[in-house]
Amino acid sequence: MTRADPEKPALLGGPKAVTLDATEANRWPIITEEDEAAVLQVLRDGDLSQHPVTRQLEDDYRAYFGRRHALAHCNGTAALLAAFFALDLEPGDEVLVPSATFWASVVPMLWVGALPVFCESEPDRLGLDPEDVARKITPRTRAMVVVHLWGMPSRMTELFEIAQRHKLKIIEDASHAQGATWRGRKCGTLGDISVFSLQGSKLAPAGEGGIFLTDDDALMERATCLGDISRIIELPMPAKRFAATSFGIKTRMAPLSAAVARVQLRHLPERNRRRGDNLRYLSERLERLGFDTFLPPNHVQRVYFEFLIRHHPERSGLPADTLLEALRAEGCDIELPRYPLVHQQPIFTEGHFARIARLEGCQDIDLPTYRPDALPKTEAANRNLIKLPNFPSAERDLLDQYARAFEKVITHAAQIAAARLG
Ligand SMILES: Cc1ncc(COP(=O)(O)O)c(C=O)c1O
Repeated sequence: MTRADPEKPALLGGPKAVTLDATEANRWPIITEEDEAAVLQVLRDGDLSQHPVTRQLEDDYRAYFGRRHALAHCNGTAALLAAFFALDLEPGDEVLVPSATFWASVVPMLWVGALPVFCESEPDRLGLDPEDVARKITPRTRAMVVVHLWGMPSRMTELFEIAQRHKLKIIEDASHAQGATWRGRKCGTLGDISVFSLQGSKLAPAGEGGIFLTDDDALMERATCLGDISRIIELPMPAKRFAATSFGIKTRMAPLSAAVARVQLRHLPERNRRRGDNLRYLSERLERLGFDTFLPPNHVQRVYFEFLIRHHPERSGLPADTLLEALRAEGCDIELPRYPLVHQQPIFTEGHFARIARLEGCQDIDLPTYRPDALPKTEAANRNLIKLPNFPSAERDLLDQYARAFEKVITHAAQIAAARLG
């Protein structure tokens, strides 16, 4: 019997490059006895709504990020709603946002009558493109939402400059960037309001949870009045008079989630380090093969909420779907990025946003038309992205197998492409 040629791509009948089981290497979140003990403590203490662990989590976040106020929320979406509410936006006020993000960076603003103005994302860091942001400012612009997509800090120098020049508030959605820094400053300290989602896949997860951070007493007060029914009573007058009702919703975090979140935050630096070491190691191999792996500039320390890379079909000679097919045949777990562009979603393109924002028929407000083809640069920047596992606990042998899979496919690109055409 002849042995299979180890160099031959699996798609053309060769052996798979990836043979190791990756279940443990990619298990996330990492839950240990420390998380279990923290949850058990809350259960045994018996106060499942107002256990002090939620306040302790807020203290942890305040201390870790060096901010004056932290308010825990039931999820990141609620924390973002609180951020839009806190800014006291008027109906029809405009907020500059990226379209390449999870919808919660944008859509909650409709509930306070604000309108998103979608801006291009730039291709190097996938965050707001400062040039387009500057172009889209109008007399109604009040704020911008900066999202550090996939853990890569945005172009803050230019965005700060624009915000300052036009007196815009910055809401920093740092949900993907727990532990990242920009010019030595932690993401989560860069906005007038900064928000983290602590949803289960995040870098310091709670299961469900969100954190609202600010240094501004007035912003904190408004966020609290929106829906933290146990905190309003502690506010000074006159805000305290809303203690019996809030402003109609309830946003506080469940203590069982807070218990997990405290333990996860404690382990954030060491777990980011391991994941980062692994993905930088793999990035170096993939860069050599012609992929963009979104390596940060020197003044930025990125983290990896997700590991996306960009394929250049014109360089490799492989169409995107053939590349995916060939890598999957090698045993790689490869997916496409999971966020559709927000401006192309029917809530905007079919006009539903106007009803949610209660702006239909309002005089003085020209309702925008959201066109799906409005952001060609964003579409281009997000084309040909592929998503690899995050390898939070992988050893080098698994990473080497993935690198090998890519090497096999790229070195045999011409044969693979020809076989697929034939
Ligand atoms: C960038 C971003 N912002 C906001 C959210 C919303 O957070 P949550 O799911 O906790 O409501 C998420 C995701 O979950 C997110 O990825």
